[in-house]
Amino acid sequence: MAVDLRISGGTVVTATDSFEADVAVDDGRIVAVGDAGSVPDAEETVDASGLLVMPGMIDPHVHIEDHFSVDTYETGTGAAALGGITTYIDFAWQAWVGELSQYEEEGTLLEGIEEKREKGERAVVDYSVHGAITREDPDVLEELADVVDAGVTSFKMFTAYEIGLGNGFMNRVLERIADLDAVGVFHTEDPSVCDELTDQFKREGKGDPEWYPQSRPDYAEAMAAEDAVRMAREAGAKYYGIHTSCRKSADVLESFREDGSKVRAETCTHYLALDDSIYGEVGNQAMIAPPIRKPDDNEAMFEHLRRGSLDVVSTDHCGYMLEGKQVDNWWESTFGANSLQVSLPVVHDEAVNKRGFSYPWLVRVMSTNVAQTFGLPGKGTLDPGTDADIVLFDPGETYTITAADNASAADFSIYEGREVTGRVKRTFVRGELVADDGDVVGEPGHGQFVERDLPDWEV
Ligand code: URP
Ligand code: ZN
Ligand code: ZN
Repeated sequence: MAVDLRISGGTVVTATDSFEADVAVDDGRIVAVGDAGSVPDAEETVDASGLLVMPGMIDPHVHIEDHFSVDTYETGTGAAALGGITTYIDFAWQAWVGELSQYEEEGTLLEGIEEKREKGERAVVDYSVHGAITREDPDVLEELADVVDAGVTSFKMFTAYEIGLGNGFMNRVLERIADLDAVGVFHTEDPSVCDELTDQFKREGKGDPEWYPQSRPDYAEAMAAEDAVRMAREAGAKYYGIHTSCRKSADVLESFREDGSKVRAETCTHYLALDDSIYGEVGNQAMIAPPIRKPDDNEAMFEHLRRGSLDVVSTDHCGYMLEGKQVDNWWESTFGANSLQVSLPVVHDEAVNKRGFSYPWLVRVMSTNVAQTFGLPGKGTLDPGTDADIVLFDPGETYTITAADNASAADFSIYEGREVTGRVKRTFVRGELVADDGDVVGEPGHGQFVERDLPDWEV
């Protein structure tokens, strides 16, 4: 009997290998990968000659439809589909009241998950959430087991902003996370160092965005990372370092990993592809925390990715509008920038084309490692039996990035005018075509909330 779909004549790339093969899909799952003769006939055949056939990319750090993003689940997942990203992990917030917040009253993590699941009814690609703990409220410790049961097995904590937690409370959360075998996800910047420098720059009138990186220095990121990762080790908890931006911080995390602790970490597309000269070029558009650093930090990210002491590349996608960036002083700007749609081509260009990283490496850091780190067993591979989340990628097509092509609601791109070689041609989510040569063709509602397992990390 014929299966639903066959992707024929492409180069299949897995986390360990690349080879010529056909891929057969039935009922949303991969059913066979092999020589043309060994793969069943299909009702529809897609010609993938000259293309790479990779597992859909998985982005574990995305902000959609909340105080950090004007994107809705429809626009955000549309951008993801065009970017070859078939699953992302957003944030479910423990509602808090404050300047940065859209909430009028405090809430629980379970309510935050429900809120995102309702918004996710318009999703085109699959999604999950991290629980984001925003208050030192002991009730959250009681809630964590129920949140894990709801399929949310990782928890983000911030050391900075108005939602920053103190070390004492983070330590209590880490003990609970260790009991549950869940994952602690950490935004680390020492708040007293960053706040003091920011106040000083305000007093001195240093509002030009070129001053911004000095207000949140690399050592402040490394200091907070060291505290958090040390507490995780003492508690026996899994630690995931989010948006690692600099050599000092990556070195700290690596040193704890060598000590045998359960440490993993990501960097983001912009810490690979951009350096601090961007603030002289696009000003507040590149206002992102931690800041975009020096060229040596870019190279440090590649060095750590090469030796596996950074595991993942994410986007930290925030769909903001230019309006929120066009302010007199950098500290009045919104923080974050969009990149879901362009991350794969940009990382491919920087890592594979310019630095000789392999295609299996690309699949590992943007897909397989993410699935393994965050408990998504049906994703991140092309193994028969797993979800048919597939991206067809033309490694030789050159194009110029422009915000005019954005499916994201955001109206600018920090990569505007950048020429990249490598383009997403087609994206399938559970066997359905969701992006076709630059058009979003997936139906809102096709994307599903994915309940995650507790991940098994081999240290
Ligand atoms: O500048 C950033 N990264 N904004 C989003 C919030 C966060 O800390 O990830
Ligand atoms: Zn963060
Ligand atoms: Zn973020």
